[in-house]
Amino acid sequence: MLAIIGGSSLDRLSALADVRRVEMATPSTPYGAPSGPLIFGKLAGRDIVFLARHGENHSVPPHKINYRANLWALQAHAVTQVVAVVTVGGIGAHFTAGALAVPDQIIDYTWGRAATFFDGEVGGDRALVKHIDFTKPYDEPLRQCILRAAQRVEIPLHDGGTYATTQGPRLETAAEIQRLARDGAHMVGMTGMPEAALARELNLQYAALALVVNAAAGTGTSAQAIDLPAAEALARTAMAQVVHILSEVANVGN
Ligand code: HPA
Repeated sequence: MLAIIGGSSLDRLSALADVRRVEMATPSTPYGAPSGPLIFGKLAGRDIVFLARHGENHSVPPHKINYRANLWALQAHAVTQVVAVVTVGGIGAHFTAGALAVPDQIIDYTWGRAATFFDGEVGGDRALVKHIDFTKPYDEPLRQCILRAAQRVEIPLHDGGTYATTQGPRLETAAEIQRLARDGAHMVGMTGMPEAALARELNLQYAALALVVNAAAGTGTSAQAIDLPAAEALARTAMAQVVHILSEVANVGN
């Protein structure tokens, strides 16, 4: 089954039909509780499950999200594919506010987050030390599926780009963004990791759909400051396009 993890400005998926909420009992996963209930329903006629990454009321900040519980809960409910919706700041001329992208690389600048299932603490084979290959952090067939869906509904999308994940919840300094640009990043957000790595550890097919909601700090229209109300307003309106693409992904499958 396909799961959609909604990010900022996508805490609810109103396009879902026949909705059924599953609140997970405590203790709901070996890692604690997910961000909120799993919302099952039909998107474009296909059974999917939706999870709000920051909780239904947007109350969980990026560094406090229980990424392990979220992915564990999804897999426990027969999820095999995850499309992660993220909002990002754009770095460089091509990733301007309003642009959409399906990133193909990640750089992880986060710290102190529970970033693996294989930490030797929870029983079974997860108590072992295990390394995953993460050369290509996103599932390529699922990336292509999103790109094709966007093409069919004629919504332009960047194919690829490097997503830098910062710790947050504060935004970056101008100097930090200059460093990310030198590192080769095209977009910056706070929730891409460890979510993608944890999905790989569980053998889930995982890809991200990124919406640029502002120019990154110190660049373009954010040269002096990031206009947060404007970024939030853009996120709210542009999310309709994201949902349009997601519906097409669900419609066709892959
Ligand atoms: N930086 C980090 N995360 C973000 C940004 C940003 O500029 N915009 C939206 N999420």
